[in-house]
Amino acid sequence: MADDRIQHLQEMKNRALEGGGTKRMEDQHKKGKLTARERIDVLLDEGSFEEIGMFVQHRSSDFGLEKQKYLGDGVITGHGRINGRPVAVFSQDFTVFGGSLSEAHAEKICRLMDLALKLGIPVIGLNDSGGARIQEGVVSLGGYADIFLRNTLASGVVPQLSAILGPCAGGAVYSPAITDFVFMVKGSSYMFVTGPNVVKTVTHEEVSFEDLGGAMTHATKSGVAHFAMENEVECLTAIRTLLGYIPSNNMDDPPFLDRADDPDRRDESLNSLVPLNPNKPYDMKDVITRVCDKGEFFEVHQHYAGNILVGFARLGGTSVGIIANQPAVLAGVLDIDSSLKGARFVRFCDAFNISLVVFEDVPGFLPGTDQEWGGIIKHGAKLLYAFCEATVPRLTVITRKAYGGAYDVMNSKHIRGDYNVAWPSAEIAVMGPKGAVEIIFKKEIESSPDPEKALEQKVTEYREKFANPYVAAERGYIDEVIVPAETRPKLIRALSFLKNKVDSNPRKKHGNLPL
Ligand code: HXC
Repeated sequence: MADDRIQHLQEMKNRALEGGGTKRMEDQHKKGKLTARERIDVLLDEGSFEEIGMFVQHRSSDFGLEKQKYLGDGVITGHGRINGRPVAVFSQDFTVFGGSLSEAHAEKICRLMDLALKLGIPVIGLNDSGGARIQEGVVSLGGYADIFLRNTLASGVVPQLSAILGPCAGGAVYSPAITDFVFMVKGSSYMFVTGPNVVKTVTHEEVSFEDLGGAMTHATKSGVAHFAMENEVECLTAIRTLLGYIPSNNMDDPPFLDRADDPDRRDESLNSLVPLNPNKPYDMKDVITRVCDKGEFFEVHQHYAGNILVGFARLGGTSVGIIANQPAVLAGVLDIDSSLKGARFVRFCDAFNISLVVFEDVPGFLPGTDQEWGGIIKHGAKLLYAFCEATVPRLTVITRKAYGGAYDVMNSKHIRGDYNVAWPSAEIAVMGPKGAVEIIFKKEIESSPDPEKALEQKVTEYREKFANPYVAAERGYIDEVIVPAETRPKLIRALSFLKNKVDSNPRKKHGNLPL
């Protein structure tokens, strides 16, 4: 008798593992996609997955649904480990009603999130869903809202990562949008509020799935996707890598990992990396990789707003968030997109106790009607706000230009930068020498017999007087002018010194970030 009962249990489990059936599984593979369970296997440490709610079923009887029941109801939920650390994971099963979200499906995700919040562990959502379960109507919408609420309450408490591995339409996009990082896969994942057919009806625009809401669209144009990966395995592997840099919750420290790179390692090539001509670009990634452990830089938002670089790296084993102006793209200017990109990253790092390291070479904010009408004032203010409120250890290296408002914004000492240093090539001033002398010596230059020569002479005078790090050093606005070669040991020592830093902001319900 006991054997029969165990056999029955095994049959139930086998049914659950079948999802929507072999044919639909094969269809999934034909589209170049893994099944929901295969994804979990790739994501988690081998054999670590423990499922919760395998036998949950929907409770709907409309449109003949009572005759179509699948164990698990289109989402697999549970917990497992990534590099030994516990995580909560849900994986939507497109073979069951297109992974659509029913009341029961939503309840499973909500229970998992509630558990993750109590345990202080990251939530990873593998999304592959046709959106609200149409047959269930408003009950399904309610389910989404229950998830959105939990995403918001968990924000800044536990990391939330979303992989979009198929369609993600309608309100379904707003749960991933609230999470910390969105991963997409080229050619098979889509996010849009309304699909191409609705777009055509409403605006008469003809647009493909890929152009409207594919991975590269969201990675380059909208910035909704932080990562656009080549395939699902690469995507799931990248999630594992990212988790290696971040703590499990906001009370925890990020994982320390000794990469066996000498903390006192100097890099002499940095001494000649910044060109003598201040208008010549160079690649700030070269600075980052030469300074950080083993040259590793896990870049976030690689395809979006290239004039700023953000991502994770390690210094002497400690995980840090890097924010760097990129002189090789638009001279490293700050504009709307780069401000938003930087601000979101700074706030993530601050929420999760990850020290900030800024490499600065910025000529200022981008002028023009596009930027002004687009709201560069309020968007630039977001980056400023993000740095101002950050209480984690904060380090800045000014490699070359630190001009105007951008000097203040990029983690200056005035807004609580802890360790601010400059290379001898630094130019810290209100604006570039040419712009400055054209304003303050306008009349003198115009009335000179040789205006061009007069301008050149004034530019040289201005550069000598102000376009250097020593005026700021004199004021104590930077702590040290350092030899570029010793940037790594200097930053590692500063991080070690600042390890136990405690700082706080005034008590408040929440601030009012300029949105
Ligand atoms: C119930 C659904 C479904 C849904 C798909 N299916 N979407 N069942 N509710 N939302 C079922 C299909 O009936 C089909 O069942 C199976 O899933 C696979 O769907 P196909 O259409 O055959 O697959 P494909 O051609 O790959 O197209 C996938 C798709 C398309 C692009 C996602 O199915 C689609 O457009 N679905 C509807 C999307 C949508 O409008 N959702 C509601 C959005 S509004 P069988 O039995 O044949 O396998 C919304 C509001 C949320 O989500 C608001 C929250 C604030």
